[in-house]
Amino acid sequence: MIYVSRKEHFNAAHKLYNPIWSEEKNIEMFGPCANANWHGHNFELIVTVKGTPNPETGFVIDLKKLSLLIRKEIIEKVDHKNLNLDVDFMFGKMASTENIAMEFWKILAPAIKTIAPDAQLHCIKLYETPRNFVEYLGE
Ligand code: NI
Repeated sequence: MIYVSRKEHFNAAHKLYNPIWSEEKNIEMFGPCANANWHGHNFELIVTVKGTPNPETGFVIDLKKLSLLIRKEIIEKVDHKNLNLDVDFMFGKMASTENIAMEFWKILAPAIKTIAPDAQLHCIKLYETPRNFVEYLGE
C-alpha cells in the first residue's frame, strides 16, 4: 500500500457562531472568529489516496485527474465563497475546519472511485492557518 497526495488551495470566508447561544457566549467561545461581518482564511487542502501501483502505469492514481476532480468537486464550490452562506453542503452546520473536512470526505470518497476504481481516499488534511489543521480518515 502506498499513499499519494495532492495539495490544492482556496480562500474562503466564514464565521463561527452558534445561533442558539447569546452574543456573549459566542464571543467567549469563538473570540474573533465569531465576528458578525465574517473573516477569511487561506485554506490548504491535502487529499491523500491509497492503493497499489497499477502495473502498466506505475501509478496509484493519475494526479492530474485527481487535481481536476478536487477542483471540480470542491475548489469551484468553496473558493472565494462564504462557507456559511454560499456552500450548499455546509448549510445548517458550524463552519469549523473539522466539519468542512468531513463534508469534503463525503464528496471525494465516491468521486475518487470514478477515476481510480482500485484506489481509496485515505485522508483529508485541511489547513485553516499554517499552524491550525485537521486530518480526517473517514471514521
Ligand atoms: Ni476562522
